[in-house]
Amino acid sequence: MSLFRKPLPVLLREAQAAIEQRHIEAAAPVVIWQAPGEEDARFDTRLAMARSRLPKQVTLIAACTPRQGASAAGVLRVEFPPSLLNLLNPANKARYRVAYSGRGAAKSWSFARALILRCLQAPVRILCTREYQGSIAESVHKLLDTQINELGLDSWFTVQRDSITAFSGAEFIFSGLHANVSKIKSTEDVSINWTEEAERVSDDSLQVLIPTIRKSGSEIWFSFNPDAETDPVYQRFVKSPPPNTLIAFVSWRDNPWLPAELDAERQYLEKVDPDAAAHIWEGQCRAASNAQIFRGKYSVEAFEPIVTPKDGETAWDGPYLGADWGFAQDPTTLVKTWIHERKLYIEFEVYAIGCDIDRTPALFDQVPDARRHVIRADSARPETISYMQRNGYGRISGVEKWAGSVEDGISHLRQYEQIVLHPRCVHAIEEMRLYSYKTDRLTGDIKAEPLDKHNHIIDALRYAVQPLIRRAGLGFVQFAIEELADMNRQRGAAA
Ligand SMILES: Nc1ncnc2c1ncn2[C@@H]1O[C@H](COP(=O)(O)OP(=O)(O)OP(=O)(O)O)[C@@H](O)[C@H]1O
Ligand SMILES: [Mg+2]
Repeated sequence: MSLFRKPLPVLLREAQAAIEQRHIEAAAPVVIWQAPGEEDARFDTRLAMARSRLPKQVTLIAACTPRQGASAAGVLRVEFPPSLLNLLNPANKARYRVAYSGRGAAKSWSFARALILRCLQAPVRILCTREYQGSIAESVHKLLDTQINELGLDSWFTVQRDSITAFSGAEFIFSGLHANVSKIKSTEDVSINWTEEAERVSDDSLQVLIPTIRKSGSEIWFSFNPDAETDPVYQRFVKSPPPNTLIAFVSWRDNPWLPAELDAERQYLEKVDPDAAAHIWEGQCRAASNAQIFRGKYSVEAFEPIVTPKDGETAWDGPYLGADWGFAQDPTTLVKTWIHERKLYIEFEVYAIGCDIDRTPALFDQVPDARRHVIRADSARPETISYMQRNGYGRISGVEKWAGSVEDGISHLRQYEQIVLHPRCVHAIEEMRLYSYKTDRLTGDIKAEPLDKHNHIIDALRYAVQPLIRRAGLGFVQFAIEELADMNRQRGAAA
């Protein structure tokens, strides 16, 4: 009798939906992974057999190493560099899967694709985390969305603002780890956790995260670019990996799709600073250096500037934009910054090596609203400035330089309580890490003179806030005296 409690049209609609769901499930893509060491010819035979057994409307997905030529009819190839394919192949069982490398090694794309394939195969719940996540825009949500699209798998997924679901019942959720202990602890039923940029994850976060991923058979994936050897993820998973850990140390050499722009950056750094290239591109840990100019002065954190205040907030000052021009092979850069409560925030950057003058307006357009604001630029290239002015950048002007202006600029930047870098500003992060004082060749003593390297974003930063820089003209001597006096004052106040 209960059958008739619902009106007939509702019953019909429900029946129709159930039938459609069955059809969808019946036609769901089937994923086959190339096994470790399995030769291409053997894998192709396996694929052909699977293809012949499957109904025509079912897509067969081959997760395999990169290949030349078109794929067989009815087969969608999803390619991975070989070591990442082995790392991510679900047939290789593991509690932890860890990939680390210098830049451009196809880690993020491969992890995203492997997780998308997992969603086609089972109703997995995937928690995507990073140390700091101010908003969903900072997460891998966008990357997953683009990859689903690029693979042509849109019909199997529903992308919502804060989550992504699959027809199988699989689901992606996103969260920052820092200061989110209770939220993370209460996240249930997670099959896979992926922590991206894991070099930034604190030990406290790991201590909360790891026991939270407790479902039987659950997995934890880390991808990262090594920074310091003391970083918790490096210590725990590279120095002394727990049992049941698969690790892949990869590089740009493993990435057959390395974009030309990235390769140009790599070659540039190798030329100007091989030690820095060993860290940034080859994935070696950074040697701790006392000569680092911004040591202890910066942090990497997602943020959203307050432009329209509400509830007692105050609007941030800015934005302040600065540009540096690339001579010959040096990069052209632009930064967009803000100041709030004695902190300097870097919100956007562009960085392009070998950028021709006629491509520069389009390059700068990558920074939101760049044309609307005043931009302060290196004055050494007046013809570039007037070109930009004629091409939509009417508010750009050259900044004055004076003897000691670099040093005064640095001392100004160091006087902020903190320089906060948005995680998307990868070159700013690198330069903050690498910009150093000269050291004496024989004694190793640090000299009060900055090395003219890793300063393209930093120069742009100085130009951006130039009207605020006090002209001591005495450079570091004055700066050191002031900083010492400041430290003494603070100690006095605390006593
Ligand atoms: N499977 C793929 N097919 C096509 N292109 C790819 C693929 N994987 C990576 N790429 C290309 O290589 C670039 C670098 O890949 P990805 O961003 O995944 O590297 P990464 O190791 O995460 O780099 P980083 O350390 O800088 O974050 C991508 O932007 C993309 O252009
Ligand atoms: Mg990446």
